[in-house]
Amino acid sequence: MSTMLEVSGLNHRYGAGEKAHVAVNDLSFTVEAGQLASIVGPSGCGKSTLLRCIAGLIKPSSGRVSLHGDDVSGVPEDLAVVFQDYSRSLFPWLSVAKNVEFPLRWRNLSRSERRTRAQEALESVGLSGVGSKFPWQLSGGMQQRVSIARALASRPALLLMDEPFASVDAQTRFELEDLTRRVQRENGSTVLVVTHDIDESVYLSDRVLVLSKSPATIVADLPVGLPAERNQITTRESTEFVTLRGEVARLLHGGAPENAAAVTAASDAAEWDLARADAEATADADAEARSKH
Ligand SMILES: Nc1ncnc2c1ncn2[C@@H]1O[C@H](COP(=O)(O)OP(=O)(O)OP(=O)(O)O)[C@@H](O)[C@H]1O
Ligand SMILES: [Mg+2]
Repeated sequence: MSTMLEVSGLNHRYGAGEKAHVAVNDLSFTVEAGQLASIVGPSGCGKSTLLRCIAGLIKPSSGRVSLHGDDVSGVPEDLAVVFQDYSRSLFPWLSVAKNVEFPLRWRNLSRSERRTRAQEALESVGLSGVGSKFPWQLSGGMQQRVSIARALASRPALLLMDEPFASVDAQTRFELEDLTRRVQRENGSTVLVVTHDIDESVYLSDRVLVLSKSPATIVADLPVGLPAERNQITTRESTEFVTLRGEVARLLHGGAPENAAAVTAASDAAEWDLARADAEATADADAEARSKH
């Protein structure tokens, strides 16, 4: 396997002087071509900042990002991003087909090639019949499919997704997770997904990168050994899945492995999610602020 993405010694701080905020601190990792990796971490730890640096949307304070060996210094042509908020990322005055075609205008493609690519991308997300509609005539889940189709139409070497399913209902979320896995495998794409949802990180990916609270550093890099064929019911019930989600939850909570029982107990706790890690981070910050007064 060849390396698609290499992030080395990445730091990013917003602002300068006393008010500077370090969002990302010395992050290094690689993603191999054809891999689907997830990133989980507490709210505000720097996940979107990391994705923006990878996408070339912001210049990191220091460190390096390279895509198939080329340094990223602006937005690379062969990279696409799917954002959480589909309602703001699609143009309401353009039809669905025109939205999907839009980024292809800057490619050296004829009009008919652009149309064909958009049509194929819409087909791959199960939306072949809605090209002439406007985004606002579709449900939220369908609009997010359009965003995914738009990203796929440019046939990116790397697809970045920043909490792509956070704004849709649970059933649609499951469908979009399966859709992402299917198109990723069919196209052999390399995908990096940021999610708040521990279960989703395990279900979706080949690998989960767990980040610390702010500034983001890597706490763990866990391989997901689940079979490639996954099922929303049976996979989530499997022992491997339950153990892994417990492990991710425990790492996010900042704990060290004590024994197998502790991991199982963590997996059994239904409320184990990032909200809890966030609440603790907020409590820590409050305590620190109080101690300064
Ligand atoms: N443009 C900006 N200017 C100043 N500070 C920023 C800016 N963007 C983000 N930050 C700060 O950097 C930190 C990391 O933000 P970021 O959006 O990367 O976190 P995140 O992990 O994606 O959070 P969430 O899970 O809530 O989406 C936060 O403290 C945030 O307030
Ligand atoms: Mg974010």
